Amino acid sequence: MTMGEKPRLGELLLGTEGLALLRLAFTGDEAMRDARVTEMRDLLAHLDDPDLAAALAAPEYDLKSGYALWSKTYDAPLRLFSIEEPAMQALFDMLDPGTVLDAACGTGRHSVELVRRGHRVVGVDRSETMLEKARAKLPDADFRVGDLEALPADDHAFDAVVCGLALVHLPDLHRVMAEFERVLHPGGRVIVSDVHPFLTLLGWQAQFRTGSGDAGFMRLHRHMLSDYTKAAAAAGLWVRSLQELPLTKESAVTVASERLPEANRAAWVGLPGVVVWEFGKP
Ligand SMILES: C[S@@+](CC[C@H](N)C(=O)[O-])C[C@H]1O[C@@H](n2cnc3c(N)ncnc32)[C@H](O)[C@@H]1O
Repeated sequence: MTMGEKPRLGELLLGTEGLALLRLAFTGDEAMRDARVTEMRDLLAHLDDPDLAAALAAPEYDLKSGYALWSKTYDAPLRLFSIEEPAMQALFDMLDPGTVLDAACGTGRHSVELVRRGHRVVGVDRSETMLEKARAKLPDADFRVGDLEALPADDHAFDAVVCGLALVHLPDLHRVMAEFERVLHPGGRVIVSDVHPFLTLLGWQAQFRTGSGDAGFMRLHRHMLSDYTKAAAAAGLWVRSLQELPLTKESAVTVASERLPEANRAAWVGLPGVVVWEFGKP
């Protein structure tokens, strides 16, 4: 399969069964393993049936057109929000009220929580359509169109930078970390959540539904945990804390969840789904 070709549904379902079988290999749950093998045999026997042989019915979008479509349903909410939000908000609770940059703020999900905690928020995002949603939620906040790698903000302007689930869209983390350091006061903090590399290495993409219910996806970049620490260190930031949040039944939503719920749970639940970092500027 080349990069442009989409996987077939049957391949993704077989892969889910395989991952589940590997994870069950040493748990001693023989009945669960037998169920996986039975379902794999059934899938293999029907792999050429039209529904399993059909390419995944989700076109690939670039970031601009993808977020223009996703903005309509983004707050639905996204599958990873339920594990990411408690950890992010606990870190927001530890910030003294001040001026915070919500970098790649999207529809302003974190901006709303920051304003609620008494911060003055500036939000930056490359997508006008995502920013429109943010402005509707917080008409008094300052939302700017801009890029993570060239932030439209002065040096040393912020007490903290927050960046939710966005670095996975960048091929490299060095420029963005240098930008976070540049716009921070000395002593400032950076709070980042991102899709955990465990998931991106296993092929997770940014899947979404458009306003009319069609599916689409944007390809995610893979950043190992050491890629974040190297880029942060090169920018002069130090690691204050790191959390790796496991996928739950509710957040492990994949193409297999409805069709093969037991295999889907065995494959994904408990794997690290979101990474939350706190960096400090000396
Ligand atoms: C998954 S959304 C996250 C939005 C928000 N931070 C949240 O956690 O709900 C990713 C956002 O990153 C933005 N984005 C991606 N690459 C960007 C870049 N290079 N510069 C600025 N924004 C970017 C997208 O437009 C999108 O709004």
